Parts: sequence; structure tokens; C-alpha cells
Amino acid sequence: MRHVIGFNSDWLFHTKWTDVLKDSLKEAEIVNLPHNVKEVDLHYFDEDSSWFVSGYQRVLNWDKSFENKRILIHFEAAMSAAEIFVNGKSFGEHKGGYTPFTHDITDALKKDSDNLISVKLDSTERKDIPPFGANIDYLCYGGIYREVQIIVASDISIEKSMLTGLSDAKVCGKIIIRNSEKKKDVKENINIKIYDGSNVIHEHKEDIVLSGQCFEEKDISFNVKENIKLWDIDNPNLYKVEVSLSNKDSISHNIGFRTAVFNGEGFFLNGNKINLCGLNRHQSYPFVGYAMPSRVQKRDADILKNDMALNLVRTSHYPQSRHFLDRCDEIGLLVIEEIPGWEHIGNKNWQDVSVNDVKDMVERDYHHPSIIMWGTRINESADNHDFYTRTNTMAKSLDNTRATGGTRCNLNSELIEDVYVMNDFNHDGKLDPMRSQRAITGLDKLVPYMITEYNGHMFPTKMNDCEERQMEHTLRHYRIIDAVAKSDEVAGATGWCAFDYHTHYNFGSGDRFCYHGVADIFRNLKFAGTAYASQIDNKTKVYLEPISIFARGERNVGGVIPLVISTNCDYVDIYHGGKLLKREYPQSNRFMGLRYPPIVFEVFDDRLIGAQDWNVWDDIKLVGFIDGKVAIERQFVKNPLFSNLEVIADDDCLNAVKNGSAWDATRITIKAVDQCGNRLPYINLAVSIDIDGPAEIIGDTVFSLEGGLYSFWVKTINSIEEASNIKIRVKTKKFEEKIVNIRISK
Ligand code: GAL
Repeated sequence: MRHVIGFNSDWLFHTKWTDVLKDSLKEAEIVNLPHNVKEVDLHYFDEDSSWFVSGYQRVLNWDKSFENKRILIHFEAAMSAAEIFVNGKSFGEHKGGYTPFTHDITDALKKDSDNLISVKLDSTERKDIPPFGANIDYLCYGGIYREVQIIVASDISIEKSMLTGLSDAKVCGKIIIRNSEKKKDVKENINIKIYDGSNVIHEHKEDIVLSGQCFEEKDISFNVKENIKLWDIDNPNLYKVEVSLSNKDSISHNIGFRTAVFNGEGFFLNGNKINLCGLNRHQSYPFVGYAMPSRVQKRDADILKNDMALNLVRTSHYPQSRHFLDRCDEIGLLVIEEIPGWEHIGNKNWQDVSVNDVKDMVERDYHHPSIIMWGTRINESADNHDFYTRTNTMAKSLDNTRATGGTRCNLNSELIEDVYVMNDFNHDGKLDPMRSQRAITGLDKLVPYMITEYNGHMFPTKMNDCEERQMEHTLRHYRIIDAVAKSDEVAGATGWCAFDYHTHYNFGSGDRFCYHGVADIFRNLKFAGTAYASQIDNKTKVYLEPISIFARGERNVGGVIPLVISTNCDYVDIYHGGKLLKREYPQSNRFMGLRYPPIVFEVFDDRLIGAQDWNVWDDIKLVGFIDGKVAIERQFVKNPLFSNLEVIADDDCLNAVKNGSAWDATRITIKAVDQCGNRLPYINLAVSIDIDGPAEIIGDTVFSLEGGLYSFWVKTINSIEEASNIKIRVKTKKFEEKIVNIRISK
């Protein structure tokens, strides 16, 4: 039996590392994981301020369950280099802030005593570690920003289960065994059970004869006899795999049965062609950088799949949280995952770390059915035959079930991987939405091909930018997803990007932000997000969002024409002052690739909602029809008033911090709305918040709305009480205090 102990609460955090910390416990601030070494301001922070060498310390009390066991410490990620000491003994430095590492600390532990675990964490942008070495358009922050566990295991234990399912009901991959005492010629049984819910539907046994290595591998391949349901994006059927040894050591994880293939004709999941339509995700958040717990990571997957109707996400530019990937498995969101890097390729040692990143990424994530391709290049780097042969070979040697790719931006690049992956920023509003495949590859034949970025820096747009800019932002996204969908040459595309993100001073808008998202950093959708969101099946959700705030003088010259409507309705009627002005249909001729093209009102016969007539600016009603029936109505008033402040929490219950668990958090969004509930983008109201109960606010407690919106996260903290509820008070001068209650579960 193994016992996994959460090791996330009550770390001592020293902002400055000194060697004394290796073996003596010193007083410092108490922190819980996930943790960022420095809170970063929302705008105009000094990015250098989080680049330092810090120390974390935590006492591990000897427990009688440790007797005759191996004690492992597992870090899910620490940015960017971490040296672990146990009672002063070093376990070496792990380089790289995105991949996990484990140390067997048994021999350094003192029995019946307290044991000191110290972490020397170097969060500087070290030139010997990818992605560092040159400029990077994103921030990596610093900290032990994912979880840590203590694993109490037998001397022979399962290090990793790399198993995946294919659509012919085959389970394949390998099991890696940790042979702590390097036993030789000992036979061990591996037992693999596949569960459908709580029923075991298949059992498979293998023997392995240990050869005296610290890590031993057993290849696995068998077919499940029972009928299985395939995993796909609409029905993400998952099965539990439980792997155990005769000494009862056991681990479990989910798998899904599916086959993912890229070929010259596109992308096929279980033989069915899917037009890949997605966005890139950075894993950064306001104030805490990367340090967000499971619930918040999972929520991003839900936002991408359910709110934005995407079928794919690219985890630009690094392996992301296991919680995020687990959720992608659960909801059927496909993933392209890639190694850390941005344009720069370092020297031989740097490249060795990068090749090792491929190994760690594939080993950690092999089992996820959602992952359809490994990115084995440094994003947008130059060709490098030897290096990319190494990264590609590493991925292929570990996984022959998935394609490899890797993003470049140069033409005529050498194709080493399975898929030629390109960032195509051709569209500048006028030029074609995408280039032809042959123009990019320079090859005389079509190859498996995919676009991983478009838009982004070509048209940065903020939540509260003027309406015309936001309309163009939206249309650029529409034009490109349409062109990609129509093309037989490309399997699909992921646009740049889902969420605004923090960056270095020499990128973005100077305030350390790239406003490239179709949503802001709080994950609130901008108008451009509606181009994606409106593609949701209209039987699942009826969608109608005009790209307008219906003000007479917001646009140049005035008026709201052309009026673009993101909708999945069959047609839309527009009423002005109660009078039907016009019925309009989707622009199917122009956007033939889209399931739900936008509806565009170009002109109105009586020009009533153009700029011309001062006196007739009136209320607007939009009515969307599906199958001849009214499906949705939206109202917009001629004279919006600041009528309410909506305060919405994503969750009504959070988990208490207990038994070493990580903290939990949820997002609360404040929205200024008019008499119809429409957001008022030019409200910059000052708001203050406070909180009662075992929780705290992440970031500022006094702020002003941005674009009529603001979100903040509330996190659980240590509490001596078993559980108690939290009350968040939102105060403004204009409205009575708003209160949000959140339960804390025991
Ligand atoms: C790409 C790059 C991204 C981001 C984007 C902005 O070249 O790969 O990381 O910087 O540009 O549009």
C-alpha cells in the first residue's frame, strides 16, 4: 500500500536564500501552496522583482507509518530551478519550472524525529534553463506554484503508469517501476484493472523480473474484451485504470479509448474528421502569476470548451497543470502540449534540459486522451536539425500513438515531425486570412499541416477599447476561423489567444500586458470571444450577442452600422423604438466555412440607426429565431443608466485547507449593468471588498472596474475551526453593500 500525504500547507517562505537554511529551521512568513514568490501588481509592475533566489522550509515529522517504507517527495513544479535539502543533505538541482520531479529521501530522514525539508528556489531567468536565454513574450513568475506530496511507498513501487487507450479497445504503453533497493532477479506481478464506473470490465496481469536498476520498465499491450465506449469531444467517456503490484502498491488514473490521426487531409478522431478550432492558453492569473489551485485550473478548461465552444487548446508554451489536463479529458477538449521555449535555442546543456523536458512531459501526460499532439520544437525558433531530431526522437521513442509537431514561423522549414505546424500571422485586416500550405512549407506536396497562431499582436484589443476596434478584432477572428474551416490543406488552427497575459516590458502595451486575448486576464469575454462562443450548437445553448453598445456617437461619425451580430440563430429581427426595421440572415456566402456565420446589418432602409438623425435614437430589440420560432430576445435601451452592480461567484462552496491540502479558490465577478442588464463599458467605479471567515482576497481589495468589469479570486486559508462560511462584502458609494456567501466544506 502507498500513502500519499498532501504537503502543501505551512511552509516557511524566506525571500532570501542563505546556506544556513539547508539544515536549520528559521522563522519566516508561513505560506501555503500553490505559491508565487512575489505578488505582482496588475499593471506596470517591475517584472525583475520576482527574480530572486528564495528558500522554502517545511518540517516533516517522522511517522510510524514510515517504518520500513521508502519516503518520496514529489514536486509538481517549481519555477525555475529547485535544489531540495533534507536535514542538510542535497538531492541536487532540478532545472525547469514546468515539469515534475521526485526524490527518494528515505536515507536522509531521522527516525523518531523532526526532519527539515528545505528548498533553494532560483526564480531568476537563468540562461541555462529553457525558456530563458533571450527575450520572451510572457512571464514565468517564480515559486513552488504547483502541489507537493510525500509518498510513503514500498521498496518496489509504481513510479508511473503510462497507459493509453486506442479506438480498437487496445490499452498500450508501459509501467515504470521504482526499484529503490535495486533488487535483482526478483519477480513482481503487475495487475491492471480497467473500471467502468465501479465495475471492473477487464483485468490484465504481467510479470516483471527486476534487473537491479533503480527504474525498470514493462511494456504493456492488451485488448479490452468488453465493449467499450470511445472517447471523443462530444462523449468524453473515461475509464479508470488501476495498476497494482503484489505488495499492494497501487496507483490509478483515467484513460479514454480513441485514435487521433493527422494526415494530408486533416485531423481525424476515431476516423471522423474534425476541424480543429481552438485558442492558445497562458496559465497566468492576476497577482499570483501561475499559482492557482485545481478548481481554478479546471475552470479554464470549462471556459474554453463551454463558454467559447472550442474543441482544442494549445498549452502555449509549456506543459500545464495536471488539473487543467484532467478537466480537458473529462469534458472532451483536445490539447496540443509543448515543451517550454520561445524563439531562443541555447547551447548544448540548454538543449539537454529541453530534450529532458520532452521526456518529462510525455511521461507525465501520456495517459491523457485529450492530448493529440506533442510540440517538440521551441515555439517559433529557427530550424536546428540535430536538436529537433533529438526532441522528436525522444517523443517518438516514448509514444508511438500520437503525432509530433512543433511551432515555427519561418517559411520552408525542415519537416522532422509528423505535422508541419506554423504560426500564420498573414491577416492584417486586408491580406488573406491564411497563406496556402505550399507557400509556407515550400514542399511540392501537401503534408499534415496545422496553424497554431494568428491575430494576437496584429491587433491588440482591450475590453474597453472603442466599439469599431472591437468589431474589427471580432471580424478578424471570424475571417480566419472561416478560412481555416474551408481549407482542405489545414487540420485546424488555434488563435492567439484565449486570455490577456502578463509579459515583459518590451512586449505588449507597456503595462506588462499583452491584450491579445479574446477574453481579459480575468477570463471575461471581449466582443471577439463571441466569434467562437456563437459556434455552440443551438440545441445546447441559444446565443445572440451584438458587437455594439448601441450608443449613437461611439463610432467614428456615429451610428451602429454595420451591425455585426454573433449568433447561432437562423435569422434576427431588429426593432427600433418598437418598430420592426429589418430581418437579416447569416452571411453564409461570405463565411461558408462557419456553422454559424455572423449576421451583419449593413444598411437600414430608413437609416434610423445610422448617425444622421439626432432625434430618433431609440430603444433596440433583437429577436433571434430558430426553426421559425422566437428563440431569444435582447433589449438595448437608448438611454442606459447605471442601474445595478452584479456580483457573481463561480462557486458557492470551497474546500477547507486541511491535512496538508492545497488551498482552494473561486472567482467573483463584479459587473456594472444598465436597466436591461447590459454591461456598461465606461464605468470605472471604485469598489472596495472585505471578507469574513477562513479565506482571503487575492490581490487588491480596493480597485476600480475596467471595462465595466472586474473579477477577483477568493482563497481559503488555514483555520483552526473545522469549517465555517465566508462572507464577502462588496462596497461602493453608489449601491448598497452586496454580499456573497460561500460555504466551506469540511
Ligand atoms: C507569437 C508568439 C506568441 C505571442 C504572439 C503574439 O509570435 O509565438 O507567444 O508572442 O506572437 O501575437
